[in-house]
Amino acid sequence: METILLGRSREKIPLIGMGTWKLGKDPKKEIEALKAGISAGMRFIDTAEMYGTEGLVGEAAKGEEVFIATKVSPNHFREKDVIKACGRSLKNLGTKTIDLYQLHWPNSAVPISETMHAMEELATKGIVRNIGVSNFSVQELEEAMGIMKKHEIASNQIEYSMLVRDAESGLLDFCRKEHITVIAYSPLAQGAIYSSKHKDLYTAIERIGKRHGKSPTQVALNWVISKGNIAAIPKASSKEHALDNAGAAGWSFGAEDLAELSNFLGKGERSP
Ligand SMILES: NC(=O)c1ccc[n+]([C@@H]2O[C@H](COP(=O)([O-])OP(=O)(O)OC[C@H]3O[C@@H](n4cnc5c(N)ncnc54)[C@H](OP(=O)(O)O)[C@@H]3O)[C@@H](O)[C@H]2O)c1
Repeated sequence: METILLGRSREKIPLIGMGTWKLGKDPKKEIEALKAGISAGMRFIDTAEMYGTEGLVGEAAKGEEVFIATKVSPNHFREKDVIKACGRSLKNLGTKTIDLYQLHWPNSAVPISETMHAMEELATKGIVRNIGVSNFSVQELEEAMGIMKKHEIASNQIEYSMLVRDAESGLLDFCRKEHITVIAYSPLAQGAIYSSKHKDLYTAIERIGKRHGKSPTQVALNWVISKGNIAAIPKASSKEHALDNAGAAGWSFGAEDLAELSNFLGKGERSP
């Protein structure tokens, strides 16, 4: 699996990882899917205390070399609550450290200086290996970056897909400039790319995929990561979907594909 540098660190993460929101309905099948994904090179799993899937992730990753990202919920942004939440996540995951600990959403009710102080404390102790945020705007990133003393923000996890492209109005550029890796969530627009509402887009990506021996899903995910400085974390409940997603990296669009896509996506496709 191709990799991308995480923030300004020397650490590399796979371009395609695995999301785990809404998993937990059929743990046996989902753990099998996660394990298949790990074997296929998606050695990067995203979870959150809010998802209730940290235990599942810990089980799937046991004995494997996997980069695990989790998140602290906004209602735990007070300093002592961050420390406690981190302790619970470590226990759930069955690990001694967290590779990437992310603030799930901004919370204006708690000063960001207090939350980041706790995050920096965890990073200084080596419990958290990298600090990330999620759903942060340019302004929120600037504010958080401005108050951090010893560590840097390695990543910003945001929604980005062929159908949801708000980040193109400045946020992707800002992250690139500041060496903050973008982690694209809902890169398949939560399955909306397969809906009849977006039939024309689906037909186009199916056609492009056929030229490369790739599935429509692989085309949609490759489009996300091909922007540069972006890793994507599709969620798959089955082994078949996980293996399909793992094949999204390692190839590039040709000029014909890009022309077809830019024509199509230029038509004003926005949020599903
Ligand atoms: N930071 C945040 O605020 C935030 C918010 C939302 C999500 N996230 C993270 O991002 C991850 C991914 O986003 P998401 O779960 O919202 O949506 P997504 O990954 O865009 O889409 C998931 C949907 O696509 C389907 N799918 C996946 N692979 C497929 C394939 N190869 N062929 C056909 N269908 C396929 C899944 O079906 P099956 O389940 O049947 O495989 C599911 O219905 C989450 O799991 C979570 O880790 C973060």
